[in-house]
Amino acid sequence: MAFNYISAAEAASLIKHGYNIGLSGFTPAGTAKAVTAELAKIAEAEHAKGNPFQVGIFTGASTGESCDGCMSRAKAIRYRAPYTTNADFRKAVNSGEIAYNDIHLSQMAQELRYGFMGKVDVAIIEACELTADGKIYLTAAGGIAPTLCRLADRIIVELNAAHSRNAMGLHDVYEPLDPPARREIPVFKPSDRIGQTYIQVDPRKIVGVVETDWPDEARSFSAPDPLTDQIGRNVADFLAADMRRGIIPSTFLPLQSGVGNIANAVLNALGHDKTIPAFEMYTEVIQNSVIGLIREGRIKFGSACSLTVTNDCLNGIYEDMDFFRDKLVLRPSEVSNSPEVIRRLGVISINTAIEADIYGNVNSTHIGGTRMMNGIGGSGDFTRNAYISIFTCPSVAKEGRISAIVPMVSHHDHTEHDVNIIVTEQGIADLRGKGPKERAQAIIENCVHPDYKNILWDYLKLTDGKSQTPHAIQAALGLHAELAKSGDMRNVNWGQYA
Ligand code: COA
Repeated sequence: MAFNYISAAEAASLIKHGYNIGLSGFTPAGTAKAVTAELAKIAEAEHAKGNPFQVGIFTGASTGESCDGCMSRAKAIRYRAPYTTNADFRKAVNSGEIAYNDIHLSQMAQELRYGFMGKVDVAIIEACELTADGKIYLTAAGGIAPTLCRLADRIIVELNAAHSRNAMGLHDVYEPLDPPARREIPVFKPSDRIGQTYIQVDPRKIVGVVETDWPDEARSFSAPDPLTDQIGRNVADFLAADMRRGIIPSTFLPLQSGVGNIANAVLNALGHDKTIPAFEMYTEVIQNSVIGLIREGRIKFGSACSLTVTNDCLNGIYEDMDFFRDKLVLRPSEVSNSPEVIRRLGVISINTAIEADIYGNVNSTHIGGTRMMNGIGGSGDFTRNAYISIFTCPSVAKEGRISAIVPMVSHHDHTEHDVNIIVTEQGIADLRGKGPKERAQAIIENCVHPDYKNILWDYLKLTDGKSQTPHAIQAALGLHAELAKSGDMRNVNWGQYA
């Protein structure tokens, strides 16, 4: 079929106020970019005329400046799900402008299929190749693109020359059936391929093809520092010790690692700890460190939803595809993050916390209990189903004015039932096989910054010390209250609660 080649502005004009749009991509990797950038301009023009213009956005995970950035500044987003990392979007959410539905990433595609979020009016899919019979070859991420293509009334393809056609073959496109017809997702090892390398659509649904040359809006990483290196070494030491004890098989288990600088440092430390054998990843994002370790032979295989790497690194992969073809696979997020598969494979999860409490509950999403940071991402998909679930964080934030370990988290994302290990630069708390009071001892002793150790021991003295989970309820958020009052948790005076 001959497609209708149109400009990004013409494509954006097909999207009306009140529509729900679905975007390919997962993190800024593989996200459609050109049409949403034009849509933000349409919204601004309509608002200037006094007309309403807002859309709902469904996507795989965070996007970049050309969607979450300009669309939130243009006040063009009514509703959005799931995860995002954009600073302007964060500002808009925390000032009440956007209905942000922060769901587990593995659930996004199925919640759309179940009809929980309404209709997908238009899907905008970034591709490195499109065939006349409707085969769409995705770029650097799987996301929820297969489901969007099936559910959407109309599809716009952004054919992006910035992604090499060598990306063809990277993907394993598979969509499970819905209950009651759902069967197992037949992934039995990270390298299993169970689907097709493309999304097949009815070509008549493709209402426009927009040719672009727009690199992914990848974030760069800060250079490793002594603190992130120490956290990384602590994680590597812990895993090596568990392997020596026979808890982790000597062949090792697949790893999942979150996003950001700490995750990058952890992987570096693991990769360079020669007591740990070469391992596989079953994860949602592959960052630069993983690619380096694949090249060095320290990582044998990477299964993920996206290549969330710098553009230099991405182009290096595309150029070296003969080497990477049997070492990487990109999957839709409901497969990369499938609770069923994660539990079957025995994935070891490593994610970052904003704060944790003395009993092992973790807050990944909210600052001060009310303000959204980014979202839960895939951390819940992996943590609850992991063979061993690990959370890392620096023991303090904001030059020591904030302790990352508090009596009670100000928002719960991962409960004490799901969290096995907490690691800071101070050390490791192993919570497995312990009751809550033993967990509190392990966390305060091993993970808390010296400035806060006595503060937390003194907190425990306010409690009855006996109940299942001892708390002095009035004082449980006392460190947060002190931060709000004086700007420094260290000024807390427990006497006021005695
Ligand atoms: N209270 C207030 N602010 C805090 C804080 C706390 N307890 N802990 C950290 N912060 C601040 C930091 O100071 C920093 O602020 P800045 O941006 O002004 O410098 C900011 O939060 C980010 O912290 P940082 O230490 O730079 O961590 P990060 O970039 O590694 O991000 C998370 C940490 C938790 C926000 C991030 O990992 C995340 O969004 N996680 C949830 C999703 C997830 O786990 N995804 C992976 C699944 S695969």
